[in-house]
Amino acid sequence: MAISLEELREQFYENLKNADSSEAFEQLRVRYLGKKGEVTGLLKNMGALAADQRKEYGQKVNQLKNAVEQAIADRIAEAHAKDLENKIALAPRFDLTQPVQLPEGSYHPITLVQREVEQIFASMGFTIEDYDEIVDDYHCFEALNIPKHHPARDMQDTYYLSNGQLLKTHTSAAQNAIMRKYGAPLRAIFPGRCFRNESTDACHENTFFQMEGIMIDENISISNLIYFMKTMLSEVFQKDIKVRLRPGFFPFVEPGFELDISCLICGGEGCPSCKNSGWLELCPCGMIHPNVLKAGGIDTEKYTGFAFGLGLTRLAMMKYGVKDIRDLNSGNLKSLSQFVK
Ligand code: DAH
Repeated sequence: MAISLEELREQFYENLKNADSSEAFEQLRVRYLGKKGEVTGLLKNMGALAADQRKEYGQKVNQLKNAVEQAIADRIAEAHAKDLENKIALAPRFDLTQPVQLPEGSYHPITLVQREVEQIFASMGFTIEDYDEIVDDYHCFEALNIPKHHPARDMQDTYYLSNGQLLKTHTSAAQNAIMRKYGAPLRAIFPGRCFRNESTDACHENTFFQMEGIMIDENISISNLIYFMKTMLSEVFQKDIKVRLRPGFFPFVEPGFELDISCLICGGEGCPSCKNSGWLELCPCGMIHPNVLKAGGIDTEKYTGFAFGLGLTRLAMMKYGVKDIRDLNSGNLKSLSQFVK
């Protein structure tokens, strides 16, 4: 005798319970509801039934067919929902309100040194000025007592724009504008990016930073210059720094000097870093040339002043032990992130 409707119903639900993939559901659908499927097959039992029972039986088969259809559809929907839940659970989570998980950044070593020097000079009454990177020939050279024919220009070849302007070769290029802006007496420092047409190596870069300073007042002398430089350097290096002046030539100062500091590495004994001299050249400086004061509108009968051009890049290299200047402009976080915040 063929399987009864009740038996088939039970068997189907049992099989459905064990099915767990979309292929398994499809197999069940074909097995029970297909043209030659088992539910359809129940109709074969009809022949054995009395005529008055056939209608009711037919309805029951139909109900079973609908129930099977619905049950399979429900399990498929359930499986989809579970699948989606799994995918969501495994998906990487982004919470835009969370703080960034990256390691904290740090300032560039040159910025660090610049700020430090700025603070020291500010505490000594100097104002901090900003100035353009693109300047004209007058400000970069003429106003600094470097006329067109002057050989000092050869040392400062730079990048020229087609309109005749140029990228400033030194922070001294701001001297004239700052004198004109404030007049005398005046104490100002002005850090800035400078450019030169250089072949680069471990000690030379085409782009570097300087910090210029000028102090103009009545009775300013070389001793004032030495005092301010020594105070500033001792603060930066957190120890008493010995300085010495050697004569140096710069058209915009008279007399002009090279200011050296006792070597930080050997303490003045002599080592490869200071070429065994015990001294490091750090900061050219001098008494501002009267022509430069005049060009800046300053009364040279009444006022004198000193100026210095501190190599900020150089200072940062010394302070942080950077051996290759090119690391500083490289944007290479591996080298740059070694420095303190
Ligand atoms: N501007 C000069 C340079 O870059 C450096 C310099 C020398 C600046 C003497 C000064 C100074 O203020 O007095 O080569």
